[in-house]
Amino acid sequence: MRTVPKQNMQETPVLLQALQGKVTNRVPFWLMRQAGRYLPEYRALRQQAGSFLNLCFTPELAAEVTLQPLRRFDMDAAIIFSDILVVPLALGQKLDFVEGEGPRLGPLDTGSLRYDSSRITPVYDALSLVRRQLPPDKALIGFAGAPWTVACYMIQGYGDGAFESVVAAAKNNPAEFGMLVGMLTEATIEHLSAQIRAGADAVQIFDSWAGILPETEFSTWVIAPTRRIVAELNKRHPATPIIGFPRQAGYLYARYAAETGVQGLGADPSVDLSQLAAGVSPGICLQGNLDPGLLLKGGEELTAAAENILEAMRHRPFIFNLGHGVIKETPPEHVAALSAVIRSFRQ
Ligand code: CP3
Repeated sequence: MRTVPKQNMQETPVLLQALQGKVTNRVPFWLMRQAGRYLPEYRALRQQAGSFLNLCFTPELAAEVTLQPLRRFDMDAAIIFSDILVVPLALGQKLDFVEGEGPRLGPLDTGSLRYDSSRITPVYDALSLVRRQLPPDKALIGFAGAPWTVACYMIQGYGDGAFESVVAAAKNNPAEFGMLVGMLTEATIEHLSAQIRAGADAVQIFDSWAGILPETEFSTWVIAPTRRIVAELNKRHPATPIIGFPRQAGYLYARYAAETGVQGLGADPSVDLSQLAAGVSPGICLQGNLDPGLLLKGGEELTAAAENILEAMRHRPFIFNLGHGVIKETPPEHVAALSAVIRSFRQ
């Protein structure tokens, strides 16, 4: 009798099935920022590490923090514990996280940047450690910031949600801005490709500040670089799906999906998912989009909102998620309650 290799006997993780365009009978879910400050066990390891970047760059600790939410809850995926700003670090820009304030980047000298992945190898080591510990029915998600969003932080040096100086730089000096975005596009391809080689089963591209650009600039700085990243990764790693998340893209979400070629599309809470579904190819997996504020509140409002989303997405490939990250004051019991709502729903 022929022995079937063990690998083939294992079913594809349900999250990957959804990203392959299948309507799964159990809806897969994970939560953006599912590892983090709302979990006491995260705060303990964070304190042990001393700083956020130390936590990211100590593979054993980063792997443990990545797995923490799955030890408590029944998510279908782990997302590697890292940050979108490790790419500027690999390019040679200084980076600090100031307690209670957020990221602060050093002065930008575009001409002196050179991508050196050896500056961030602990991220890949952490991915390999997680993949070895993660059950085969759970997916491991790698990620990067999109070039536009990362450029926002690199140029301004900190986040303020408006990035006026960056919008101005893109408008007034498109040649130089384009050079930076081009460099980031290639660096992002290398960073995501290395994560896939280290064990990521899917990757997500966070374009958190996509929504501040008007349509023409959105095409140039959001869609075009993302299309290049998706094309190259799909060529190098045809089995690895890519989720794009152009936060607050509004009416441009559907164009983003069609023109970038992503396999999954993440939506923020301002989007009506049924309406979005009507404008997006049925082969593309939608992801989202519960308001993190409702997860913070909990109770009947949370249950009703989650059920609405599940009902609206019943007949299409779908991954349940928040529309943005878990808020740090969220009681962990609310995550358990949400998990129960998702699990009790059947397509
Ligand atoms: O989702 C996950 O659980 C994986 C880990 C993850 C982090 N950052 C860890 C983190 C992911 C996917 C990110 C992405 C990220 N980082 C984005 C895109 C998503 C978004 O939120 O829009 C952005 C813009 C960043 C940049 C960044 N990192 C900011 C602005 C901040 C400060 C804000 C804050 O919440 O403190 C960070 C720090 C950061 N990244 C923390 C975590 C858990 C908090 C650090 C701490 O523990 O003190």
